[in-house]
Amino acid sequence: MPTQPQVKGLLLAGGYGTRLRPLTFTGNKHMIPIANQPMLFHGLRHLAAGGIREVAIVLGPLHEGIPEAVRNGDEFDLDVTYIHQGEPKGLAHAVLCARDFLGEDPFVMYLGDNLLQEGVRPFIERFHQSPLDAVIGATPVQHPSSYGVIELDGEQIVSIAEKPRNPKSNLALIGVYLFTSKIHPIIADLQPSARGELEITEAIWKLHGAGGRIAVRRVDGWWKDTGRPEDLLEANQRVIYGMPPASFAVRGQVADGARIMGPVSIGPGSTIGPEVQIDGPAVIGSEVRIDGASHIGPGTAVGNRAAIHQASVQRSIVMESAEIQGPFSLVDSIVGRFARIRATQDRGLRLSCVLGDSTQLNF
Ligand code: DAU
Repeated sequence: MPTQPQVKGLLLAGGYGTRLRPLTFTGNKHMIPIANQPMLFHGLRHLAAGGIREVAIVLGPLHEGIPEAVRNGDEFDLDVTYIHQGEPKGLAHAVLCARDFLGEDPFVMYLGDNLLQEGVRPFIERFHQSPLDAVIGATPVQHPSSYGVIELDGEQIVSIAEKPRNPKSNLALIGVYLFTSKIHPIIADLQPSARGELEITEAIWKLHGAGGRIAVRRVDGWWKDTGRPEDLLEANQRVIYGMPPASFAVRGQVADGARIMGPVSIGPGSTIGPEVQIDGPAVIGSEVRIDGASHIGPGTAVGNRAAIHQASVQRSIVMESAEIQGPFSLVDSIVGRFARIRATQDRGLRLSCVLGDSTQLNF
């Protein structure tokens, strides 16, 4: 029986960061926590769950924290190497930079700022079903002109365009792609697009034009490109709601009287005061202090060493070492690392905000 070719992983974490970045979160955007785990870790876990072992992470000019956190990939059951792309000259340019690592093997390219509920396994399974040169994913979206857009007639590709002004369909290309080595000579011939990038969308279109066999999967379940704060919040909620029951565990100290309802994770060294109520699903990191009459709502993640006193926190991301001192309600918010929000009077305020790392808000 012929053996199936090994599929490698290419996880993109390059680029300068995020549209949020200069104002808000320091470091690399792929390290922003989703359900208390750096976003990039979710991609790594998906690649591992797809049976991939060898992964290269593509790094851009601002890559602080990534190699330090992922190291050689042991923790993910992966063999991880790093490729320095330097300037972000496009997704296809990232593939070009990884040419030596990829060799002649098929590979899954996973955009590090994407989260896909079903992971990469269905792409790999589809690839093994019949001879193919690429497997790409598509899903209907409300604003297709922010994405690569594919037009289909049944299973047939009619057109593909990157962020078209007048999209021909509402089907966005999602950030997971599987390619064989047939893509390399096409990428090597690409010219920069009007925005100065080597576009993977154009490479796919050319592969199609050259008779390449491309399967387009309509992805099952949810998919998120985490470009905006509201996307991060939605991804955070979706990941938390999708966590298997066995992954929730209370390791911290919960005082008598505190009410922990539904699935809640509380990390070691955390203390939960007697008047606190936490409604799951929610994830609380380690060495977190929650006290006073605080209420943590479902879909909330509280990072390590954060402190919450006398506040209600709903559907929010509170990053590590942040401090929230009520009385007030925080909803649909992102609070950066070491940020501090403090209410000086009880005005019954309901606040929704994106607060950058190390910022302070007193009211
Ligand atoms: O999210 C899906 C969309 O991703 C697709 O629909 C588009 O066709 C595709 O071009 C891409 O569009 P984005 O504008 O969202 O790509 P962005 O520049 O945000 O980069 C996506 C990821 O790849 C992000 O994690 C940063 C990384 N990247 C990006 C560039 C341009 C690199 O590692 N190197 C790069 O040169």
